[in-house]
Amino acid sequence: MSETDKLQEKQKLPIGFMDSGLGGLSVLREAIKLMPKEDFIYYGDSLHAPYGVKPQVEIRDLTFAVVEKLLDMGIKGLAVACNTATSAAIHILREKYQKEIPVIGIEPALKPAVSVKENPRVLVMATPMTLREKKFHNLMQKFQDQAEIIPLPCPGLVEFVERGELSGEALEHFLKNLFAPYQERKVDAVVLGCTHYPLVRKTIQKVLGSGVAVFDGGAGTARETLHKLKEYSLVSDAVTPGTVQFYNSTEDQAMIRLSRYLLEHVN
Ligand code: DGL
Repeated sequence: MSETDKLQEKQKLPIGFMDSGLGGLSVLREAIKLMPKEDFIYYGDSLHAPYGVKPQVEIRDLTFAVVEKLLDMGIKGLAVACNTATSAAIHILREKYQKEIPVIGIEPALKPAVSVKENPRVLVMATPMTLREKKFHNLMQKFQDQAEIIPLPCPGLVEFVERGELSGEALEHFLKNLFAPYQERKVDAVVLGCTHYPLVRKTIQKVLGSGVAVFDGGAGTARETLHKLKEYSLVSDAVTPGTVQFYNSTEDQAMIRLSRYLLEHVN
């Protein structure tokens, strides 16, 4: 097969999305909006969720195991739609795979949040692991002179999403407790630094009140994915709408149904 034929074959492959569970669907929906003709494979590792409270080595190993599965299925690009897995593993994933395919990660969307006003107070919600890692500290340092940045670890929030519990009293109570220390001196912006959180954005916004701007990195990561595909000459020339295949490590059909629901009906 000639190099051109090989490239054309590769262009037809789906783009692989992975997350510790269902959170990456908040990134995938942005990717579909931007690239409606591409095919996608979504792999949620719900059996091992949450990643964000585990040690870094364990998260790295779990991430690699999922990535190997996606590569075996055949993908032309890899989007690590998980802030935690990105923090723990993106460097070594790139080292190992980016000669073959583009490898895209995600990080908390601090840039737009620090611009909401002059010297704003910005709360960054993420998993304990993401906020502990060097990657986040470097990012925080970059914006430190433009805003007061407050990291807020949210252990327990991912589990609501994994259960499909996107609203209701228990979730509101959980969030009220989480935000209680920031009620007196209000924050101006909140960054959703875990891909699960945009799936409960409405409830988060309800508890915060309408005066607080809420940001996530989904659309930015989708744009970066397209940009990388172009760089590797891997954009599909399909003319019909693409497809999404769902996989979940629990092998539970209810999780596949929930994945489809979150992708198609929650925004
Ligand atoms: N969705 C993931 C993230 O973006 C992690 C959730 C987890 O702790 O498993 O950080």
